[in-house]
Amino acid sequence: MKNIVQNVYLHKDTCNVYVIEDGTGLIVIHAGNGSVLDKISTSFPGKKIIACLNTHHFRPTVQGLPLFEEHDISIYVPYWEQDMFCGTTGFWQERQTWINYDGRWDRFSPISSIKPAGYLRDYDKIRIGELVFEIIPTPGPTPGAISLSLRIGGKKIIFTGDLIYGPGKVWNLASSQWNYNDAYGVCYWIQSLREIRAKGADILLPCHGEPIFSPQEALEKLEQNFNLLLKYRARPEELDAVKTEKWSGLTKITDHLYLDKASAAQSFYLISQSNKAMALDYGYRAPMLFPIKHHFSTRRPLLHGIEALKERFGIERIDVVIPSHIHDDHVCGIPLLERLFGTQLWCAERLADVLENPYRYNVQCIWPESMKVHRRIPFEKEFWWEEYKFKMHPSGAHTFYSAMIEFEVDGLKVIHTGDQQGFSDMVKRPDMFYHNYVYQNRFRREEMMNAAKLIKKIRPDLIISGHWETVKVNDEVLKALEKAGSEQVKIHEMLLPTNEFDWNCDHIGAEIFPYHLEFSEPNQSKKVQVKIRNPFKEAKGGLVKMVLPEGWQVVPQVHKVQIKGLGEKTLEFTIKIPGKLKIRRQPIAVDVTLDNYPLGQIAEALVTANWPEKTPWGGGVWG
Ligand SMILES: [Fe+2]
Ligand SMILES: [Fe+2]
Repeated sequence: MKNIVQNVYLHKDTCNVYVIEDGTGLIVIHAGNGSVLDKISTSFPGKKIIACLNTHHFRPTVQGLPLFEEHDISIYVPYWEQDMFCGTTGFWQERQTWINYDGRWDRFSPISSIKPAGYLRDYDKIRIGELVFEIIPTPGPTPGAISLSLRIGGKKIIFTGDLIYGPGKVWNLASSQWNYNDAYGVCYWIQSLREIRAKGADILLPCHGEPIFSPQEALEKLEQNFNLLLKYRARPEELDAVKTEKWSGLTKITDHLYLDKASAAQSFYLISQSNKAMALDYGYRAPMLFPIKHHFSTRRPLLHGIEALKERFGIERIDVVIPSHIHDDHVCGIPLLERLFGTQLWCAERLADVLENPYRYNVQCIWPESMKVHRRIPFEKEFWWEEYKFKMHPSGAHTFYSAMIEFEVDGLKVIHTGDQQGFSDMVKRPDMFYHNYVYQNRFRREEMMNAAKLIKKIRPDLIISGHWETVKVNDEVLKALEKAGSEQVKIHEMLLPTNEFDWNCDHIGAEIFPYHLEFSEPNQSKKVQVKIRNPFKEAKGGLVKMVLPEGWQVVPQVHKVQIKGLGEKTLEFTIKIPGKLKIRRQPIAVDVTLDNYPLGQIAEALVTANWPEKTPWGGGVWG
C-alpha cells in the first residue's frame, strides 16, 4: 500500500481505496471491490477496521460493501443516496427503462442492499475513532455525492470522490447529465469545485486518478474546462446557474425585511432588534435545475442565506422558521435548519401533521423527511416573535395545507400569500395575476373568492409571495382579485355538474389514512381511518367496504354509514395481514356505495409489511 501522507495509505482496485490509521484502528474510504480487506490483513496484521465511509454509489466504488458487512465493519453512505445502497429492491423495481429521460447515472447502483451504521449528512461533522470528518455536499459526479474533509498529520486532506480525476479532468463525464441532453450536473459540479477550492485543502484524494498535491490549480483548471464545455452545450438557464453573484446576497424589501436571492422558492428574513432572524419559508437553494424525473438526490436541500445574513447583520443562524405551505420547495430545508442550528419550526395547525407525518398523506409536492413542529398556531389568533405581531389566516386553492401570514414591519402591513396567486412577472403589472390552484391539492372553487375577500379585509400595504415580485396593494389590485375570485366559482360551476354531483374540484370522494401503511412486525393489526365525502345535496345512507388481497382480515368487513348532504364522515377499520407476509407497496382500496349509487373503489392505500430493507426510501414505506 502506498503511503500518501502520515497515516494515510492508498490501495488501488476498482477505485482508489484509502486506509487511514489512527490509535483505535483503521478507517477505509471507498469499499472498492473489497480486495483491501485481504491487503489489510497482511499489511496491518491484528489491526481492527472500524469503519468504511463512501462518497457516492457507483458500483466500482462500493461493490465490495457486502464483504465489509460480513466482517461486521460499520458502513457509512451518503444520506441522499440511501435508496441506492439500502433499498436496492425497490430502487431497481422503480428504475424506468422504457421512454427513459432520466439521465442520472444510476445504472452503476449496487445490486444488493446493505445495512449501514449511519448516513453521511450534509454539513455534519462525524467522529470515527479519533478522527473528525466534515461532510461537504459536492453534487456533480452524482447528484447526491459528498466529499469528506479531514485534518491529519498537520495537513488538510479532502476525499473528493469522483469530483476530480486530475488537473482539469474528471473520470466520468457522462454522469454529468442528470436529465436528457442537459448540463445540469456540470452546473452543480462547477459550484462544488468552488466549494472545495474555498476549503483550502493541502491534498485532494480522488476516487479515481492520482492524489492531487496542488489542489487550487487542479480545481481551477477543471472549472475552466467545464466552462468551455458549457459554451457549446448550455441553455440560458444553465449559463445563468453558474453566475455566483446572481444567486447570492439579500434584497431589501423594508428596513427589517429581506429577500434571500439564493432561495429558489423565495425565503424572506425578518430581522429583530435583538438581531435575530426569522425565515418565512426555507426550501431549495437557487438556481433550481431539476431533472424532469425527481429523485431525492436531485432535490437535495442546500444551505442558503446564512452567509448573507452573517455578512450583513452578523447573524449566524435562523431562530424560527414559518412555512407558508407544505410544498417541498418551501419546507425542504427546514430539517437542515433544525439539525444544524436548532431552529424552531412554527406553523399553522393545519400544516403540522403533514410536516411531521408525511407518509400519512397522498397530496402533491410533499417532502418525505419528517420534521419537528415546535409550535402549532391556530388561525386568526395573534402571536408574537420578538417585537413582531403575526396572525395566520386560512388559505387554500394552491394547497389546502397552507396559511396566509399577516404581520407588520417598519410601519407596513404585509401578507405572505404563499403560492396561492401568481403575480405576473411577464408584464410587471401588480393587477395582473393568475390563480395558482392545484386540483389534487384539495382545491375548492370558492377559495380564490374567499382569499380576495380576506385580502380586502386585511388591506395590506404589501403582498409578498412564494415566487413573484412584491406587490404594492391598491384598490385596483383588490378589485381585480375580487372579480377574478367570483368568476372562478362561476367557471367551475359551468364545467362541473355541481347540481347533481359535487366533489367540488378535487374529485377526491374518499381517502385512506395513512396512505403508506406499514406493518413492521409479523402478526400485527393496524387501524386505518377512511374519510368519505357525500357528493349529493341530500343525506345518504351507504356501505363502505375494504377491499384486500385474499387471506387478509378486516374488522368490520363493511361499514354502514349515514352522511348528510355534501357532508363528510370518518370511519375506522382494523386490518390484519397473514403472519409473516413480506410485501412492499401492496395496494388496497375502499369500495363505496351511497344509496343506489355505486361509486366504486374511490380510494387506495399502499401496504408494506416486514420488508427487510430498512431505508424509508425505495425499499421501505415512502418510496
Ligand atoms: Fe412554490
Ligand atoms: Fe407551492
